[in-house]
Amino acid sequence: MSLSDFALPPSPPASAPSLCVTDKTAEPRRLRRLHMITWGCQMNVYDSGRMADVLAPLGYGPAESPADADMVILNTCHIRERATDKVFSELGRLRVIKEARAAEGKETILAVAGCVAQAEGAYITERAPFVDIVLGPQTYHRLPEMVARAHRAAGPVIETDFPVEQKFDFLPEAAAAEERAVTAFLTVQEGCDKFCSFCVVPYTRGAEASRPAASVIAEARRLVARGAREITLLGQNVNAYHGEGPDGRDWSLARLVRSLAEIDGLLRIRYMTSHPRDMDEALIAAHAEVPALMPFLHLPVQSGSDRVLAAMNRRHTADEYRRLIDRLRTARPDMALSSDFIVGHPGETEADFEATMQLIRDVGFAQAYSFKYSPRPGTPASGAPGAVPEAEKDRRLAALQALIRQQQDDFNARCVGLEFDVLITGPGRHPGQIGGRSPYLQAVHMDGPQALTGQVIPVKIQGLSSNSLSASLIINPFAQERASA
Ligand code: 5AD
Ligand code: SF4
Repeated sequence: MSLSDFALPPSPPASAPSLCVTDKTAEPRRLRRLHMITWGCQMNVYDSGRMADVLAPLGYGPAESPADADMVILNTCHIRERATDKVFSELGRLRVIKEARAAEGKETILAVAGCVAQAEGAYITERAPFVDIVLGPQTYHRLPEMVARAHRAAGPVIETDFPVEQKFDFLPEAAAAEERAVTAFLTVQEGCDKFCSFCVVPYTRGAEASRPAASVIAEARRLVARGAREITLLGQNVNAYHGEGPDGRDWSLARLVRSLAEIDGLLRIRYMTSHPRDMDEALIAAHAEVPALMPFLHLPVQSGSDRVLAAMNRRHTADEYRRLIDRLRTARPDMALSSDFIVGHPGETEADFEATMQLIRDVGFAQAYSFKYSPRPGTPASGAPGAVPEAEKDRRLAALQALIRQQQDDFNARCVGLEFDVLITGPGRHPGQIGGRSPYLQAVHMDGPQALTGQVIPVKIQGLSSNSLSASLIINPFAQERASA
């Protein structure tokens, strides 16, 4: 998980409300412009898209930069330290823009959304009184009303409660004009009841809640109708999914996946992020039996030391994780794995760290994310005894990342010469090339026609380049075209 800026597509979509109306009798509807900056996980990226959907009926289309925007939303992440500082430094920059626009008689609504908004609440507008709206991740369906109130109100609008209604019941269908992406995210579950010692998510995203299966399936159908061929189901604890099924019973993630796999045109399904304790038999069996379920799993273990796992409140041992991986690989022998690791959790000794390194060697990861422990206010681990010195955390992180990098390189090198099915997602790096994703989520590029976009095509992996694989098409599509002509 890395911090990333995410701006909405620069040009207004064809069907967005526009000043160029041909009906002279109608009052032209003002096109307002929205700029979003998104930090954090895929769920925040998904949420930003839904906030844009909610605002589209008010006439908001995408703005290329904050200086062109009538509204700027910062969608924030609170998972690791300095999140709040980053938000305030970005707000400082936006304040200057807001004042410059005001001098030209233009209004700019500034909103802070996401987990920092949830955690800091009114403190944000105390420190940055020029912020108009502060909204938590559970309230973005109320954005239009907040925008209306922000126009009228003298003070800021703050909405960080956990409303009784489920926001998913109030969201409009994703704007038809949204980019026709071959891959899409779909949130099925939010929140977490696990309370790992280090983590703010149970406090910022609240208790675990699953979307009804019918609502997920309807959204998946819409995404597929708009061109999606691969859907990644999102949730902070996605394999704890237990949404109400159309039969009135609770559906597990395995049940949901099997149902989604029946959607015509949906070729690939992934899900993230999972907790080892929620990897049940039914889900493991789905990996063996549902071809659309991809053989790549992000299954964070955090540490390989039983002592640290207990202190983290993960409620499983390192060997239980090893056995789980064995079961997954029995079900799906080519299963590739990814994980998150934290080094320097309070109390972590050199021997504990070595146990993590041993677990990494035993499992073999295709990739992983790793972090230095950072105390999060209000979490049980913050202020716990046994703080690990920063320099020691740095050393452990560097050693762990070197091992993971080695495993990732080995994994990619083993792919050379193999034949994979690749989902073509669009243009490749160079003119005449197309790019796509392997079943193991590697970027793959090759020569080929753009017409293959959206199709799953067998390719032969020919070589490695930095962070991607190069390949060649096994079937010559040009020959096929001639044959069918
Ligand atoms: N310090 C460091 N890393 C953290 N993560 C979550 N909270 C913290 C923290 N306080 C990491 C975990 C989690 C990932 C999303 O972020 O590894 O799986
Ligand atoms: Fe945080 Fe994941 Fe633990 Fe939940 S399971 S508390 S989201 S690390």
